[in-house]
Amino acid sequence: MMSKIAVVGTGYVGLVSGAILSDFGHTITCVDIDQTKIDNLKNGIIPIFEPGLDVIVQKNYETKRLDFTTNIKEAVENNDVIFIAVGTPPADDGSADLKYVISVAQSIATYMNGYKVVVDKSTVPIGTGQKVKAMIQDTLNERGVEYRFDVVSNPEFLREGSAVQDFTHPDRVVIGAESEHAIEVMKEVYRVLYINETPFVETNIETAEMIKYASNAFLAMKITFINEVANVCEMVGADVQKVAKAMGQDGRISPKFLHAGPGYGGSCFPKDTLALARIAQDCGEPISLIETTVQANERQKLRMVKKIVNAMGNVEGKTIAILGVTFKPNTDDMRDAPSLVILPELAKHGANLKVYDPEGEKEGKWRLKDIEENIVWCDDTYQAIENTDAIVLLTEWNEFRNLDFDRLREINGGNYFFDLRNIYNKVTLIEKGFQYFGVGV
Ligand code: UDX
Ligand code: UDX
Repeated sequence: MMSKIAVVGTGYVGLVSGAILSDFGHTITCVDIDQTKIDNLKNGIIPIFEPGLDVIVQKNYETKRLDFTTNIKEAVENNDVIFIAVGTPPADDGSADLKYVISVAQSIATYMNGYKVVVDKSTVPIGTGQKVKAMIQDTLNERGVEYRFDVVSNPEFLREGSAVQDFTHPDRVVIGAESEHAIEVMKEVYRVLYINETPFVETNIETAEMIKYASNAFLAMKITFINEVANVCEMVGADVQKVAKAMGQDGRISPKFLHAGPGYGGSCFPKDTLALARIAQDCGEPISLIETTVQANERQKLRMVKKIVNAMGNVEGKTIAILGVTFKPNTDDMRDAPSLVILPELAKHGANLKVYDPEGEKEGKWRLKDIEENIVWCDDTYQAIENTDAIVLLTEWNEFRNLDFDRLREINGGNYFFDLRNIYNKVTLIEKGFQYFGVGV
């Protein structure tokens, strides 16, 4: 059976969810308060860079299974299932700021005209589902109307850059709900996956909310673990790549998320680790491992600067090529990217930066505005590398994986190569005449 679904918030999560659910055959209304964003979407302009998404949006918009609006009233009135997928940015104290989630919940309660399933997809502190439920009930009471509704927590596990694949081939779908009926409705929403034997985790709302935080915090901790092991490897002459590979061969550990690098970034790990640490402190059961992870990740970014400065002696007046500024490849997103710490620090040390990123320039220009005098944005890899003293590879975009090193040696003055993603072989680069520095190799 086809469901009528509204998705409020057309950021990464909302747009990907809405578009793919329409591809699953449902009728989807995507809602956003941002009129420009909605107008653009109607004209086929996608606000984010996400491989494969444009085609899905276009196809389903044309067949009218997918529509875009700023009218939340009509969206609530005309749909049975309403996803909340607005942002939950960190407040100053690290806790997740719920003002957008709450305002959407309030709109839902104000316009509710019958049974609705309210699905929270944003990552929210444990207990938010109950808060949303209480708030909706209060507003209904104020309105003097009686409608049944269910609140569901259905966290997303999408990775930017592979969001389409992640949404259509999830390891599991988590559904936190308090009624059988709501679970049935959600199974209908994800029917395409359900019949495909994707595991469904049915649980209460609080558990679903915790699953999201615990998963992201664990992955952030895993990355941080290997980063710190990498730092020790450098000191003792061990090779972290081999260490990680052998560790990963132990099925209990798994090889995923064991790549040492400049620190994790993005819209989730930095925010969710902070938020979980905060939730744990607030209930008097601090998770020291996560608190330490947060601190160690900050140290890791600064350690990359130290690595560069120490190797080069001094970077004052030196020109450094920066390859990649986004927090990972295949995205234009720079939220909490390590580059946002590393580049300003290098600038503070007096370095001039020639920067190239296949998708990150637009966002990079405003996020790095404070150091714009130290930056020249370049149109391609070789332009960025020309006449520089050092190359810093910061994001492992595919196009950086096959550099022509003979050409590099001809066009750049210096021979320092800082491979902060360990994508090259140290011995090969030394043979090519580079002074090679990886992370833990
Ligand atoms: C998401 C999730 O919501 C977050 O909890 C998760 O942990 C990471 O990703 P994202 O989709 O990246 O956030 O958010 P963002 O890019 O900020 O998009 C939110 C959208 O909601 C924006 O387009 C904004 O205009 C819209 N919005 C916000 C509304 O439509 N109504 C509001 O009241 C607030
Ligand atoms: C993450 C989660 O993977 C996803 O499940 C959740 O829903 C949202 O947050 P995302 O932030 O898009 O997804 O990217 P991810 O691929 O997980 O990478 C996060 C950061 O960790 C990046 O900065 C990446 O470079 C870094 N990372 C990842 C490492 O440094 N080493 C690794 O081994 C893996």
